[in-house]
Amino acid sequence: MASSTTPQILLTGATGFIGGTILDHFINSKSPALSGASISVLLRGEDRVAKITSAYGSRVKPILYKDIDDIDAIVASAAQHDVVINTTVGFHPASIQAAVRGLAQRKAATGRDVWLVSTSGTSNFSDTPISKKWVEPENQEFDDAKDDIYGYEKDREVREGPYHQRTAELGAIDLAIELGVKSIIINSPTIYGRGTGLFNKTSVQVPALVRAVLELKKGVVLGDGKGVWDHVHVEDLADLYLLVVERIIAQGGEGVPSGKKGIIFSGNGRHQWLDVAQGVADAAFAEGLIPSNKVESITLAEGRKYMMDGQAPEEIIEKAFISNSRTVSSVARSLGWKPTRGEEAWKQGFVEEVKAELEKNKS
Ligand SMILES: NC(=O)c1ccc[n+]([C@@H]2O[C@H](COP(=O)([O-])OP(=O)(O)OC[C@H]3O[C@@H](n4cnc5c(N)ncnc54)[C@H](OP(=O)(O)O)[C@@H]3O)[C@@H](O)[C@H]2O)c1
Repeated sequence: MASSTTPQILLTGATGFIGGTILDHFINSKSPALSGASISVLLRGEDRVAKITSAYGSRVKPILYKDIDDIDAIVASAAQHDVVINTTVGFHPASIQAAVRGLAQRKAATGRDVWLVSTSGTSNFSDTPISKKWVEPENQEFDDAKDDIYGYEKDREVREGPYHQRTAELGAIDLAIELGVKSIIINSPTIYGRGTGLFNKTSVQVPALVRAVLELKKGVVLGDGKGVWDHVHVEDLADLYLLVVERIIAQGGEGVPSGKKGIIFSGNGRHQWLDVAQGVADAAFAEGLIPSNKVESITLAEGRKYMMDGQAPEEIIEKAFISNSRTVSSVARSLGWKPTRGEEAWKQGFVEEVKAELEKNKS
């Protein structure tokens, strides 16, 4: 039976690629701090509740809500928890701030520290190599231990104008500071690999390129593909979230940066987009899906159509699929994070995504 001081964790996005993998790793964790903690998940849909309960039984407590606009429900749920791990939509300020407001209520009720562990992405730092609306110095790199990441993002919001994911991230941090809630944002680059959760197991960027290749029946790259980004395997990333949560629970968050210093990166490898395009083309060619592994350039408009089904504006395509965004994850390593999936897993990821897309099309 849980005592009144059993740490209470709330996970949002547990049906997603990132959140599902975090939940799976949480359940399978050998850490006494994590196995001694209670975990709840905010879900939309009775079907999702049923599947989670059938898989995890009483170990996971589902809480049903309407969706991320159900602000009162998010505040009320967060108010019953000490730590909220947020992995839903990284560009929805109201839902992330609702979690912060609920945590502040929890702090007022218990007198204990409360933590938001939230999700953002490195497209916040991207240049725009085609439109040239935002140009960074060549080889610009951001190190979370050395550089003022919060200050850079704040300044860029003003000079470039709002960028949805950055606006959401900064809004959450500012509100958390105002309300005395500790916050750490895990700001991730390209996340690859197959998720290990019960629902969505697929990421965004590499699968989007695979879809375009299979649809156009040729290897493709956006623009000249010279932009450089970082990547991390989803299982290594899940371990980073849990390492942070374990530190919070077992050591009162000692060494975990929060507020303006609490934006940390999670990259564990670096790629050029042209290499991703070639890797996907090679994997599709090896499966006999395209007649050659030659890679041809496509425009932003074509990228929008074939990679994102016309669903995202060209600004997002340019920042997320072709830009430069180099980050150095010094803080995670200083906390003891030891990612184990390297170059081999990254390259194998192209093959896995082609096979997964084929399976999806079959079913
Ligand atoms: N994947 C990446 O490479 C990457 C990299 C950096 C940052 N991020 C950030 O991380 C976030 C999550 O990424 P992901 O890859 O895990 O995405 P995902 O697999 O699509 O998962 C999204 C999660 O959010 C929930 N959700 C979406 N819309 C919702 C709504 N309107 N109301 C309630 N719940 C909603 C989904 O629940 P349902 O099952 O109910 O739809 C799901 O649990 C992204 O939005 C992005 O900001 C992702």
